[in-house]
Amino acid sequence: MSDTAKPPRLEVAGGQDRVFVDPASTEVDFQFDGKTVAVFDDMVERSVPMYGEIQRLTTELAGDFAVPGSRLYDLGCSTATTLLNLDATLPPGVAFVGIDNAPEMLAKARAKFAARGTHRDVQFIAADLQRDRVVEDASVVILLLTLQFIRPLNREHVIRRIYEGMREQSALILVEKIIVDNGMFNRLFIRHYYDMKRRNGYSESEIAHKREALENVLIPYRPDENVKLLRDAGFSQVEEFFRWYNFNGLVAVK
Ligand SMILES: C[S@@+](CC[C@H](N)C(=O)[O-])C[C@H]1O[C@@H](n2cnc3c(N)ncnc32)[C@H](O)[C@@H]1O
Repeated sequence: MSDTAKPPRLEVAGGQDRVFVDPASTEVDFQFDGKTVAVFDDMVERSVPMYGEIQRLTTELAGDFAVPGSRLYDLGCSTATTLLNLDATLPPGVAFVGIDNAPEMLAKARAKFAARGTHRDVQFIAADLQRDRVVEDASVVILLLTLQFIRPLNREHVIRRIYEGMREQSALILVEKIIVDNGMFNRLFIRHYYDMKRRNGYSESEIAHKREALENVLIPYRPDENVKLLRDAGFSQVEEFFRWYNFNGLVAVK
């Protein structure tokens, strides 16, 4: 086969996030489109505090609850970073399902899994969590930085539907950007968050442009609102396992 006849290669590694360098980037709301997908892994690493540690805690907790013969769901799986980490540690009998409503994310997730190679039963399914019932026979469900993008009006029924598809004694792992009630602490936490982004190489204008683009799209709740959401859906035990200023992680058991 000549070079010109080869199919285009999907870049698995991805590039550096420069999505918000351009001032015109604020003209539309933030989207998980091709431009974001191409740099997503770098974007997450540099924008989410302690992302590697969040991955490690999530992997450990998932290992505590995952049962061979059941399914583990990653809802809003993006490029499958979390599922790849889980694949390295969880028993092969746990089937993985990655769900996302961005087809370009799923294409990259599939390419990353193909590059790694696994004997596990893994599926990537395009679905909208606000509309579709996706969870069935789950021992673990993961929602990392995804519920914050679901319209507040829909969050209650999204969580209830997930609950209904989970086995008894199964766990939901929820990590979110959050706000707090106290205005002073909110300002301080957000200031320290932007300091972290500066340390990670984002410029003032990139930080400002992204903040503007996310304004109507990423709606953070207070931790107590997320706990209530989980308890109202029926989860009997809810515990915080991670906190960094304006980010937190909750684990809930059915
Ligand atoms: C911030 S990313 C999640 C990052 C990923 N979980 C991780 O830890 O690396 C949010 C993801 O949720 C997906 N998403 C947003 N709204 C969704 C919806 N209604 N249904 C399904 N996926 C959705 C986006 O396409 C995006 O890939």
